[in-house]
Amino acid sequence: MPAERPTCRRRPAAAAAFALLAGGSLLAGAPASAASPTAPAPTPAPTPAADNGLARTPQMGFNNWNSTHCRAEFNEAMVKGVADTFVSQGLKDAGYTYVNIDDCWALPNRDTSGNLVPDPVRFPHGIKAVADYVHSKGLKFGLYSSAGTKTCDVQGFPGGLGHEQQDANLWASWGVDYLKYDNCNNTGADAKQRYRAMADALRATGRPILYSICEWGENQPWNWAAEYGNSWRTTGDISDSWSSMIGIAHRNQSLAPYARPGAWNDPDMLEVGNGGMTDTEYRTHFSLWAQMAAPLLIGSDLRSASASTLAILKNTDVIAVDQDSLGKQGTVVAGSGGLVVMSKPLADGGRSVTLTNETTTTRTITTSVEALGIGGASSYALKDLWSKQNSTTTGAISASVPAHGTVMYRVTPGTPVPPPAGVSRLSDLPWTSAINGWGPVERDRSNGEQGAADGRTLTIGGTTYAKGLGTHAAGDITYYLGAGCSTLTASVGVDDESGGTNGSVVFQIYRDGTKVADSGRVTGADAPRALTADLSGGRELRLVVTDSGDGINYDHADWAVPRLTCA
Ligand code: GLA
Repeated sequence: MPAERPTCRRRPAAAAAFALLAGGSLLAGAPASAASPTAPAPTPAPTPAADNGLARTPQMGFNNWNSTHCRAEFNEAMVKGVADTFVSQGLKDAGYTYVNIDDCWALPNRDTSGNLVPDPVRFPHGIKAVADYVHSKGLKFGLYSSAGTKTCDVQGFPGGLGHEQQDANLWASWGVDYLKYDNCNNTGADAKQRYRAMADALRATGRPILYSICEWGENQPWNWAAEYGNSWRTTGDISDSWSSMIGIAHRNQSLAPYARPGAWNDPDMLEVGNGGMTDTEYRTHFSLWAQMAAPLLIGSDLRSASASTLAILKNTDVIAVDQDSLGKQGTVVAGSGGLVVMSKPLADGGRSVTLTNETTTTRTITTSVEALGIGGASSYALKDLWSKQNSTTTGAISASVPAHGTVMYRVTPGTPVPPPAGVSRLSDLPWTSAINGWGPVERDRSNGEQGAADGRTLTIGGTTYAKGLGTHAAGDITYYLGAGCSTLTASVGVDDESGGTNGSVVFQIYRDGTKVADSGRVTGADAPRALTADLSGGRELRLVVTDSGDGINYDHADWAVPRLTCA
């Protein structure tokens, strides 16, 4: 890492971050200058989540594309058979809900009224009959179109561009619950406008329709698509090979801070069971998709799925990680030499961890609870989510991982240790959980966005601080108090490394879920602001930093000299 590195960074483009990983270098710890544009770009507009209330956890279901493409076996019998299998094989009970159909369901031409017409050979009873059948099983039904003049298949089925309301009304009348909206034949028209037009049309139908944006990451949808849709594809199409799957995982890993309930990064549908990878590789695929809070859309023909395919798809422990209500996408916390460790914060205060061996020989992968962002307990329970074995650790986590394999644990902290009596600096104490926008929370340094200890001296409005916590919105740090503490004081502000006027956040302190201090909006141009919080009787302290509404760029937020007084 260079001794002198540029201070504040706008978010690296996903492709650049991927290049770092693909080149075999460490994502965590790589110089930011390699991954960041040289000049600051304008701050993006806020991106409130789509307000349809859907996909509070990532959507789960089926889509035929990866197994059939447009071949003739994609038809009514297949879709009904998959719905039957959802029920008979326990996939519905495991959480899979949406039975979706992809391209090639329509005829190449609209009818004289301009309506889409289902292909009468594939779907002799129309689409509504299929949707009704799927609904009769207690499942939901989805279909496909493109934000262009035609869909993607070479046969060129009609797209939705310019027909948004007419098509959305038709789909709603059929009982459609989910739309995958592709990007082919888009005439070069503005992506935001094209995807927004369909979002507005879907909303105007009055039917809740999950909206899956599929523009392959071409226009950095993580910066805008949450305003319109429930998920957005981050890459081109997956294929049924290790290199395709792991390459897509790398690209999607760098986008973690953009995912949240109702708005997910989508690294494309699952290939599990399609035959091009080993079961070890498919377990890695499924583990990584769950760890990345990705939509889980089964892409193999479930009617003929093997027992091992079903065992992977029905691993309820791994599914629970994907569906965790906290709604955080896991982040890469170490990744050198093809040995990649990801940590995903969970609603119970624990973490799931994936240890992925991308090399071609068995390797030992080692990490620690501290690297995962948790601490402050004397022991931690580990559950291996594939072997189902339980164990405990005082902090070290290590496993022998086969080539292309993933070991996945759920890590649950034991009883936390309260802080010592007297006055402590928070940066000297172990937190029970630290969640940060980019990179880890730093002790006594600003947030450098990448690896551990890459920040600089904490500096707010020209004042430097030896002690404190360097964070990045959205940040959430938790400490166990054990009811013996009385007050917390801190000086807070956006670090000068954000570039003086960049960045704007709100600092908040919570005692057992009750807000006890709030900084109001603080920008990079502001002097340090003093916060005092009454912690009397509190068991848990949370330090929260939120973006103040203008995007999560430059939001380097310092908790300087955080003084905790305990009895
Ligand atoms: C694009 C999409 C795929 C699939 C095909 C259908 O390639 O990215 O997921 O929908 O179109 O033609």
